[in-house]
Amino acid sequence: MTDLSHSQDLIERDAAHHSGLFKPRQAFVRGEGCELIDADGRRYLDLMAGIAVASLGHAHPALVEAITEQASRLIVAPQNQANDTRTEFLEALFRLAPTPLNRAFLCNSGTEANEGAIKWARAATGRHGFVATKRGFSGRTLGVLPLNWTKKYRDPFEPLGYQASFVSYGDIEALEEAVDDTTAAVFLEPVQGEGGIHPADAAYLQAARDITRRHGALLIMDEVQSGAGRTGTFLAHEQAGVEADIATMAKGLASGVPIGAILMSDEVAAAMPAGGHGTTFGGNPLAAAAGLTVLKQLEGGLLEHVREVGGHLRRRLDELAEGDKRIREVRGVGLMIGIEFKEKVAPILAALEARGVVAINAGATVVRMVPPLIITQAEADRAVDALAGAMEDTRGG
Ligand SMILES: Cc1ncc(COP(=O)(O)O)c(C=O)c1O
Repeated sequence: MTDLSHSQDLIERDAAHHSGLFKPRQAFVRGEGCELIDADGRRYLDLMAGIAVASLGHAHPALVEAITEQASRLIVAPQNQANDTRTEFLEALFRLAPTPLNRAFLCNSGTEANEGAIKWARAATGRHGFVATKRGFSGRTLGVLPLNWTKKYRDPFEPLGYQASFVSYGDIEALEEAVDDTTAAVFLEPVQGEGGIHPADAAYLQAARDITRRHGALLIMDEVQSGAGRTGTFLAHEQAGVEADIATMAKGLASGVPIGAILMSDEVAAAMPAGGHGTTFGGNPLAAAAGLTVLKQLEGGLLEHVREVGGHLRRRLDELAEGDKRIREVRGVGLMIGIEFKEKVAPILAALEARGVVAINAGATVVRMVPPLIITQAEADRAVDALAGAMEDTRGG
């Protein structure tokens, strides 16, 4: 017999075998809507959603049905064979995606989507210079690492294959200086995620479009975290009225089934030489079935819901911030919200957990709220009340 709780037991057995890079604090075995249930039966409100992944929450009936139906029919169909579910998924994707995005290469994760975007940008321009932003995060594979601002992710793997130039996010003049006729592409997150939830001004994104066009460079929107409805439009950059040459997606697109997508214009797509890119699992029917379910929900009213409930959550958080000087700023769009404190937030996150709420940081001083897109107004209220409580629990601490 062990004295450990079931959760603790799982955490210790897990730690014995995984890479050691992660330090789990909870052990979840089930989910229902916006709640997670741990191995001891304790329920938590999930404001993290696997870091902006579980867009339909947990065990959503339509998602369960679609995955189950697909698994019982066909789960393997590489992209050199057409497949009904993947075709329907692509058709839905391009009913929602803004112009000129008209074609997609399907893959399995965000970093893989960005790797592919780099290759397409190089093929389309014949250049290999990349401009990225300070605080930006694009993924962990070697081809993408040079685009990450955080040095601790890059430094252990020097020498990298190339060096990106980094500009301050939002600084139009700096972008003007950094982009020239050797630039293949500018990589921008329309809302920086890992960097602390910083939305770009529409004017900045419009200037980026103008500058890249003038120099024959591509504009790549990294929508891995901000895309698939999280900000209340299908892609966040739509709100600035700009057209991207490439947009990368992953995370919430299939609500938890691994997926990535490189959306691009016809012109960019045509530039890749035959055999220039490929994938075994990308676009598999299981991921396509999950993705199609998400897209149908977005088309069926979920985008409006994100705008409404996101607006409500934001108003409640702004009120909380007005009454408490420990909060420096509340930022974000739709259901991608950051609450920046004047202090480190680890104790506040621990206090939230003790109150039955799972959230995550974005940098040391920002509490990030990226809940399932189906979160209700009552659940959003529960989130804000728990945050207010967690702030009380940690006052003077
Ligand atoms: C903006 C952005 N791009 C790329 C990635 C990498 O995605 P993945 O972890 O699926 O490789 C992330 C992950 O957090 C991200 O937020």
